[in-house]
Amino acid sequence: MDTAFDLKTLRATVRDWKTAGLTVALVPTMGNLHAGHISLLKRARELADRTVVSIFVNPIQFGKGEDYDSYPSTLEADKAKLSAAGLDLLFAPNLDELYPGGTAEDTRITVPQLSDILCGEFRPGHFSGVATVVAKLLINVQPDTALFGEKDYQQLLVIRRMVHDLLIPVDIIGMPIVREPDGLAMSSRNGYLDATQRATAAVINQALTTAAARLREPGARIATIEGDGIAALAAAGMRPEYFSVRRSNDLAPPRPGDTALVVLAAAWLGPARLIDNVQVELAEPLAA
Ligand code: PAF
Repeated sequence: MDTAFDLKTLRATVRDWKTAGLTVALVPTMGNLHAGHISLLKRARELADRTVVSIFVNPIQFGKGEDYDSYPSTLEADKAKLSAAGLDLLFAPNLDELYPGGTAEDTRITVPQLSDILCGEFRPGHFSGVATVVAKLLINVQPDTALFGEKDYQQLLVIRRMVHDLLIPVDIIGMPIVREPDGLAMSSRNGYLDATQRATAAVINQALTTAAARLREPGARIATIEGDGIAALAAAGMRPEYFSVRRSNDLAPPRPGDTALVVLAAAWLGPARLIDNVQVELAEPLAA
């Protein structure tokens, strides 16, 4: 495995691969890698001749008071995992090179509609920060394929929409959530939980799974299901931000006739903000 710490090395390596006719897949990450990230790399290796993983903790997607300064940095452990998983190139740029104009007054990409709802309502500017850094990575790596986990479902849709609207020639692949044995979605932020909180954290997935099952029942009432989801998280000692049933293609509220839905939740548990979602394909379209 090679490592590029700067754009010049990254671009030269990718140029050589492309000259040789090889395809390239990119997995963007913020490091502190877990089995979910490694599943993305494994799929990337199946889809392309060469793989790039980026590790960059992107300051502009963190709000004031969020965990940018304390976000875990585990570069040596990450390198060992990536090398063992067969990565070709790790790209670990520094802040100044990725934000040559600084991070305060830099050019930003904003994806309308999708960015201000759900997580975007509670983390203003977050998805603009994500879209901007992912665009920088796609422009410089020029991958044929880029892979993202479905745990960040809203992020995945924001990136798909950005790539569509900006005509960026890359296939965006969403990969299934990798879960702990008790159902908790793997996340770098799970490490913030103490043992008691960790034992409680699976409630978020249980509540989503219950909601998904109830949506399949005849006469399902979405507002009741959402309210019960919020109550279940609060009863477990969490501070829910939202528990919401949406259309899976655009995150709009479901309408009569829809069949493809997703139930999404975000909740604080102690110091960790947890997000998760479960997709639901209804056998019968939603009634009016
Ligand atoms: O999902 C993440 O880890 C980040 O939001 C991403 C896509 C690497 C952008 O910083």
